[in-house]
Amino acid sequence: MGIAWSVLGSPALRLIDSETAHSISMRVMRGFGETSAGQNMLNALYKPPEVPIEVFGKMFHHPLGLAAGFDKGAEALMAWSAMGFSWTEYGGVTRYPQDGNPKPRMFRANRHRALVNKMGFNNPGASEIRKRLISRKSEEKWPKTPVAANIGRSKKVPNEHAADDYASTLDILWDHADMFVLNVSSPNTPGLRDLQAQEHLSSILSSCNKVREMKADHKPILLKLSPDNGDEEILETVSLCLASGVDGIVATNTTIKRPAPLSTQSRKAFSSEGGLSGRPLNSRSLEVINMAYGETQGKIPIVGVGGIESKETAWEAIISGSSLIQLYSALVFNGPTVVSSIVRGIKSRVRESGFSSLSEAVGYKHI
Ligand SMILES: Cc1cc2nc3c(=O)[nH]c(=O)nc-3n(C[C@H](O)[C@H](O)[C@H](O)COP(=O)(O)O)c2cc1C
Repeated sequence: MGIAWSVLGSPALRLIDSETAHSISMRVMRGFGETSAGQNMLNALYKPPEVPIEVFGKMFHHPLGLAAGFDKGAEALMAWSAMGFSWTEYGGVTRYPQDGNPKPRMFRANRHRALVNKMGFNNPGASEIRKRLISRKSEEKWPKTPVAANIGRSKKVPNEHAADDYASTLDILWDHADMFVLNVSSPNTPGLRDLQAQEHLSSILSSCNKVREMKADHKPILLKLSPDNGDEEILETVSLCLASGVDGIVATNTTIKRPAPLSTQSRKAFSSEGGLSGRPLNSRSLEVINMAYGETQGKIPIVGVGGIESKETAWEAIISGSSLIQLYSALVFNGPTVVSSIVRGIKSRVRESGFSSLSEAVGYKHI
């Protein structure tokens, strides 16, 4: 497995286009990573230490999870857990199956440690994913770590009917995740970001709340923010979340902004439409985490995501207000060792700073 991933990080693989590289790693994780031999090997190679934290009434072994978009079809849930992630967010899932945008639609900018993608929610649709998850459970292949589902709007559904679309997907997947993330912040579905406007968002949140009221169990519903909104809009969205019973905020999705390119490869990547992730996103993502924490004052948890790639970036996200954190791009550039190295770093920061537990460090910058 380690060999497979180091091949993926090798110069030879950098010649292959990014989506093919991603498909190869998914195939490895889906095949070998889902077997017990594979999981034992992943565990032996990458097991991180424990830095426990309770969030949403659940215990997490540590705060670091796999961000949405890597495992869109929930195909390797056991493997991510064995690789050391304390939780996994699968999806984005849409109500209807869709192919996504034409390829190529994922580009690397190695010098920036950044990716640009315009995938467009390629996924088999909520009903098919539900079917897969039911058989996964019957085969006892459900991880012991928490699982979140990321929900997007189907491309063919206009914004006027978005509330029903999100609510149907939530209903279909309800028994197949511990928490749900409503994604109104991806730049790759035309009009999706307009759903952050108050009138659309209120109706989406109220339809999803209605679905939840019909269920026997109360599972957390989170909202994922765009880094590209102005500060005022972000604060308005966060206060709407507080008023509408949203249980948590995910900050942030990818950005349509671009830094100045440092190489021909980056110029090519940055000239593509789509969302930029990785190192250049980190500073704005941190600003949004800080703003959201300032507004919520710890009333609801924040999940920090965007350019987390080291113990420093992880710690900064935590003391800025994140109870949980996630990464995607750093897994592509650094490989699976990034998980245990970040978690080890967090553990030593907790100790060095004299905190008795990780939860004491959350939002510490604001004290
Ligand atoms: C190829 C790709 C696909 C993604 N798909 C989704 C998605 O379906 N839903 C979503 O909410 N975020 C999606 N994201 C955004 C990530 O979950 C994350 O918010 C973003 O990449 C920033 O984290 P990072 O800098 O650690 O990569 C995607 C990101 C990438 C690179």
